[in-house]
Amino acid sequence: MIGEDNMEYKLAPSLLAADFGILKEQLEMLEKLGIDQIHLDIMDGIFVPNISFGMPVLKSLRKYTNMIFDAHLMIINPEKYIKELSEIGCDIINVHIEATNNIEKLINSINNLGVKSAVTIKPKTPISEINNVLKYVDMVLVMSVEPGFGGQKFMSEQLEKIRELKRLKLENNYKYDIQIDGGINLDNLRDVIEAGANCIVAGSSILSKDNIEKAVKDFMNVFEEYKV
Ligand code: DX5
Ligand code: ZN
Repeated sequence: MIGEDNMEYKLAPSLLAADFGILKEQLEMLEKLGIDQIHLDIMDGIFVPNISFGMPVLKSLRKYTNMIFDAHLMIINPEKYIKELSEIGCDIINVHIEATNNIEKLINSINNLGVKSAVTIKPKTPISEINNVLKYVDMVLVMSVEPGFGGQKFMSEQLEKIRELKRLKLENNYKYDIQIDGGINLDNLRDVIEAGANCIVAGSSILSKDNIEKAVKDFMNVFEEYKV
């Protein structure tokens, strides 16, 4: 059904939905629940119409957790910041194709920093725009909402892109994880997994919930259904 043995499914909660007054506690709680990747939405108010958090926050949080820092850069001029982000301890540096004129060079620079590289496409951007870097990246992120805000509705037409990425991955033996971000909840989780996504970002359906532990467990239980 999914087409790859030993596929590892990952939940990467988005920090954007956390209570920013108790970030350290929220990270520690997620880690106790078995989460090993945290999705960090970095927004500059220019590439997207919202501002989130940046270097000082990441630097502080890095001290309190061993989770994989999955930095989703929604900023212009990402080239300027990748070195600092790697030095701070971001493990995955994820850049938008729409934010750069030379994606190959940018991905190459990220790879040379010794961290994992990822490329992201906005809902209106086709896969063909990133064809030339698919063989170099560790992860591809398909946005299933317009980037900028949490809590938006999932755009189901993006499932087709997930399927295409999965097909290209199998045909060419590419290594990338397929990540989906935006509006994911228990009602559409199986659809994105069945399309081929294996790294699931979820903001409001995890960290905005009153019972975060239950929310995480519910997601993990769905992952179990697909383990072969
Ligand atoms: C949106 C961000 C997402 C956001 C997801 O620009 O990239 O990571 O936090 O939040 P939900 O899961 O609430 O759509
Ligand atoms: Zn994101």
